[in-house]
Amino acid sequence: MDSKKLRINSTGLNGSIDIPGDKSISHRSIMLGAIAQGKTVVNNFLPGDDCLSTISCFEKLGVKITQNKDHVEIEGAGFDGLREPIEILDTGNSGTTTRLMVGLLSGIPIHTCMIGDESIAKRPMKRVTEPLRQMGAKIDGREDGNFTPLSIRGGSLQGIDYVSPVASAQVKSSILLAGLNANGITSVTEPHKSRDHTERMLRAFGCEVEEAGLTVKVNGGQKLVGTNIQVPGDISSAAFFLVAGAIVPNSRITLKNVGMNPTRTGIVDVLVKMGARLEIENERVENNEPIADLTIQTSELKGIEIDGDIIPRLIDEIPVIALLATQAEGKTVIKDASELKVKETNRIDTVVGELTKLGAKIEPTEDGMIISGEKKQLTGGHVHSHGDHRIGMMLAIAACIANAEVTLSDPESISVSYPTFFEHLDYLIEEK
Ligand code: S3P
Repeated sequence: MDSKKLRINSTGLNGSIDIPGDKSISHRSIMLGAIAQGKTVVNNFLPGDDCLSTISCFEKLGVKITQNKDHVEIEGAGFDGLREPIEILDTGNSGTTTRLMVGLLSGIPIHTCMIGDESIAKRPMKRVTEPLRQMGAKIDGREDGNFTPLSIRGGSLQGIDYVSPVASAQVKSSILLAGLNANGITSVTEPHKSRDHTERMLRAFGCEVEEAGLTVKVNGGQKLVGTNIQVPGDISSAAFFLVAGAIVPNSRITLKNVGMNPTRTGIVDVLVKMGARLEIENERVENNEPIADLTIQTSELKGIEIDGDIIPRLIDEIPVIALLATQAEGKTVIKDASELKVKETNRIDTVVGELTKLGAKIEPTEDGMIISGEKKQLTGGHVHSHGDHRIGMMLAIAACIANAEVTLSDPESISVSYPTFFEHLDYLIEEK
């Protein structure tokens, strides 16, 4: 396992970058392209390790996918054209690949086995396998189908009305994808609205999806038609540079083509509420997804409370929001975020543990954390990504405001969602 010396004590991050494609949307473009009839072309696909895992799973299912320099082409096999694989499907570090594919494969009459890495092996799968079993799916796995490896013997499914105890787009999407192949109507109701990329993209592929409040419905037996997808920049990746721009002195950063889907913009609301100098320009819509250019400048920030409905809209940004809060005046309290415990790592533990090593004042709570804004430089230290891409990137931004050497163990994990992260960071730090 490698260790990387991070750039510290930055005198300012300046310039403009194009944010790489959205991870959630890139996964879905491959999945829906594969089960559609005809060709799908995906522009600005994210070639991160997670999305490459999705491609490799569908290739094993017999789908022809060509990766070009600036786009990916998928020869849609339709639901009927997926072939029983002789190999195990390896979903790597990707929860989205694992959970969405279990749903998608449950209604197709082939047998598949699925495995992921050490982190995936610890992530709860009952949240999808249980409702899918209620639909008639035949799924098995460790601890009665709660953990990988999983085995799925696809067959006929019956639509259900599922009331989910968690606001999770992975759960919602898994059930909706199974619902496309089920008899009758399938609906999912969530406690708070989670990201709706599956619903938006299903419509772009010609499907009907009904939404009423927190309930989403699909009819079984719908056919998807291949299309062209333009993937917006990932706001969850942009978040690292939005925070960097706000907390590093003498900074001004423009982030271009950032996805602004309202189910994902919790980070923008938090920055505004904390007092950040943020401008939103050039707003437009492509493939049913809103996009804009964002410019952030070094800001005077104040601590706030973050809880309730906003949590699913910024769940992946909480590690970097914790860092942001260390540079605010006053306390920031993050509540209702116990989902953090079942991400790539237990992010309450990893965020608190690693930021504490750099001198931050941060305490864990049962469902979040409390950060005392101290507005002072962080200290040096040896920190660890724990194999979690978002922890690694948060620590690399933290190092920009550290006053002594910071080394990061396992920086490679960052390629899960942002393979060009360090190139972009170096570019913004370098003198223009
Ligand atoms: C994702 C949904 C979220 C998010 C993950 C990607 C998706 O997970 O944390 O990084 O693409 O659907 P949950 O649905 O479990 O909240």
